[in-house]
Amino acid sequence: MASGWGFTTKAIHGGKMADAHKSVAPPLYQTATFYYDTADEGARLGQEIPPGYVYTRWANPTTRAFEEKAALLEGAEDALATASGMAAVSTAVLTALRRGEHAVAPSAIYQATYQLFADILPSYGIETTVIPDGEVASYERALRPTTKLLYIETPNNPLLGITDIAGVVGLARGRGALTIADNTFATPYNQNPIALGVDVVVHSATKYLGGHHDLTAGVLAGGAAFIKRSKRILRIFGATIDPFGAWLAMRGVITLGLRVARQNDSAQRLAEFLAAHPKVERVHYPGLSSHPAHAVARRQMRGYSGMLSFEVRGGYEAGVRAFEALAVAKRATSLGGTTTLVSHPASLSSVHMPREVREAAGITDGLIRVSVGIEDAEDLLEDFGQALDQV
Ligand SMILES: Cc1ncc(COP(=O)(O)O)c(C=O)c1O
Repeated sequence: MASGWGFTTKAIHGGKMADAHKSVAPPLYQTATFYYDTADEGARLGQEIPPGYVYTRWANPTTRAFEEKAALLEGAEDALATASGMAAVSTAVLTALRRGEHAVAPSAIYQATYQLFADILPSYGIETTVIPDGEVASYERALRPTTKLLYIETPNNPLLGITDIAGVVGLARGRGALTIADNTFATPYNQNPIALGVDVVVHSATKYLGGHHDLTAGVLAGGAAFIKRSKRILRIFGATIDPFGAWLAMRGVITLGLRVARQNDSAQRLAEFLAAHPKVERVHYPGLSSHPAHAVARRQMRGYSGMLSFEVRGGYEAGVRAFEALAVAKRATSLGGTTTLVSHPASLSSVHMPREVREAAGITDGLIRVSVGIEDAEDLLEDFGQALDQV
């Protein structure tokens, strides 16, 4: 029975896909549309939930197989694949909220999600409060009688802050509000927000689920009724995943457990190495006992993820020198794939964020964010060591 299987058995064998030829790899239905033979059959397929496949913007068998795997891994009743992580976030949020209702989200979330709450939703008459951190008390202070959504991202970007998921769920349950959690950084291998009471999980499948830097995709997972409503929103807004994208996401998910187990281990080793290094001021990693929410992370996560950040001593110049000296790690945006990627948030955000705002948010000049890949850990430690030697 699929629900009793371990994580990787579910990732391989979960998700039903009828295939007349019994192919082991899932077939790719790279088609925009499906034919029918009679007007009656066409009329039946025109229903809101058709008894078959009609048009890929509505549904596609390859996409459906990816959705079933994603639902299984997140412990959700159902899931819906989208063209990007932001399509998953916006579809989930637009399904949850109506004009005149109120939502709460922290400022330390993915930049585009922040803009959705801070700017786009208010312009459509949805009220929002952006709270300064992901603390349960900050969510509580922002509650209003009209609050219908509490949005969570944990661990978050770029300081690996942790939100107490069960604590936020407790606030929402008391007042009939929904919770949505972005589980991109953690992955379902390390954390299942739905098991902690969250209503809907969203992912940028561009990151760990796809896992190979070759795909832009997203998925949301939750209760069957919510996913049914979100399908309508997605069909109309049109941010549909291409079947080949769903196929790549599904192929990525098969090795998710193997990749993330190694990334958890390597990130822990790198975090400990950096924490002991004389040229490093501070390391942000939920797996270190020095992390302010280590106890919360230990309670709600099975592994601490492959994401970490650290501050090089000596300010902007020193941070940039170490950043540019890395040879195995590649300087690139995005995260969660096989290659170790680094970013320097101070230079990336300097164009649109004043220094005081950035520093108040903890994004110091020497901060480097690392998405640990699946290279051999020894090679990563050596690379970060030699880069710090050049500071
Ligand atoms: C935590 C998180 N959520 C959502 C997104 C958006 O995903 P996408 O770029 O696939 O739209 C990102 C992208 O970096 C992210 O880091």
